[in-house]
Amino acid sequence: MTATDPHRTAVPSQASELVSTLPGRYYTDPAIFAREQEHILESRWFCAVRSADLARPGAFRTATVGRESVLVCRNRSGDVRAFLNVCRHRGAQVCTAEAGEVRRSLQCPYHAWTYDLDGRLTAAPNMADMPGVDRGERGLIGVHVREWLGYVWVCLAPQPPSFEETVRQAVARRLDDEEAVERYGAEDLALGRRIAYDVAANWKLVIENFMECYHCGTIHPELTDVLPEFAEGYASQYYVGHGARFGEGVAGFTVDGTAGFGRIDGVTEEQDRRYYAVTVPPQVFLNLVPDHVIVHRLFPLAPDRTLIECDWLYSPDVVDSGADLSRSVELFDRVNRQDFAACERCQPAMSSRAYRDGGVLVPVEHHIAEFHSWVGEMLGEAEL
Ligand code: FES
Ligand code: FE
Repeated sequence: MTATDPHRTAVPSQASELVSTLPGRYYTDPAIFAREQEHILESRWFCAVRSADLARPGAFRTATVGRESVLVCRNRSGDVRAFLNVCRHRGAQVCTAEAGEVRRSLQCPYHAWTYDLDGRLTAAPNMADMPGVDRGERGLIGVHVREWLGYVWVCLAPQPPSFEETVRQAVARRLDDEEAVERYGAEDLALGRRIAYDVAANWKLVIENFMECYHCGTIHPELTDVLPEFAEGYASQYYVGHGARFGEGVAGFTVDGTAGFGRIDGVTEEQDRRYYAVTVPPQVFLNLVPDHVIVHRLFPLAPDRTLIECDWLYSPDVVDSGADLSRSVELFDRVNRQDFAACERCQPAMSSRAYRDGGVLVPVEHHIAEFHSWVGEMLGEAEL
């Protein structure tokens, strides 16, 4: 990358100021985590499941969203529906499995109240003897649903924020291009590999780590071999619209820089041989490279525990051909393990008195300060 790279915008003026991180308690305090669950995870659009994982009517998945279990299923018409996974009789979880398939209804395992795939209560034992129970009033509680990039996004807020503004436009602004992400056609790609990581760290440490590249030269030898500019420590996300260029002699985004697969249809010449990274707060990271898309979904489970599901998506012909994906997957799997080990190394220190007032963000991490301000805004704490 050079200073004349048209994809690299000027360093914002605030970048020269040193800024503190959040105080340590923001990564450990159960009360703060509970407020984040309510005001962030349950209030924003949350990327819950991959649409193709609900292949047929009756397929369902459950996902932890904030403090709630959410049941996402495909109804008889092929549309996706999502509900709070709580039986309206006595509150049993309707589905306890992470995934499954039913024929036409969801039945609570406790007293067999039965709901159709649109959440309506259709049957219950001895229902004729329960004149006070209004079936129309006792359906599963629905939550808002959108599908984008081949994923089901849910929002538990009664009045969700604009999906267009807080998700689609957030991605477009980061890439400085309305159409950039659409060109990868993520909704038509096939799942090549999924790896789940159970990380003993606060979700914000994971996000902050993903947003910076100050650590790349220290902990990501394979990544900096493929993207030499990362060894300089400047995150691709620091520069609006910038895609990090593959190094000379690098044939593909693979663990050893050998060739990957053909460019995804729709990816432009300008996007070729480049890596783009986008964070969609609160819990999604996207990586875009010419031959695949990597989607990380974070599921914050506790102040010090985050489950991360990472999907590697390829053109269906690549997956159908049975091609060996291992060198392609291994690059970011190693990066993930290196990153999550770093986050786990920081987590215990968050409760140290040495970190009571937090640490500092070096100037190139000014966009992490923006993330902190966003968290503060969501929690109604203007001083963050
Ligand atoms: Fe579900 Fe009773 S709690 S049927
Ligand atoms: Fe990293």
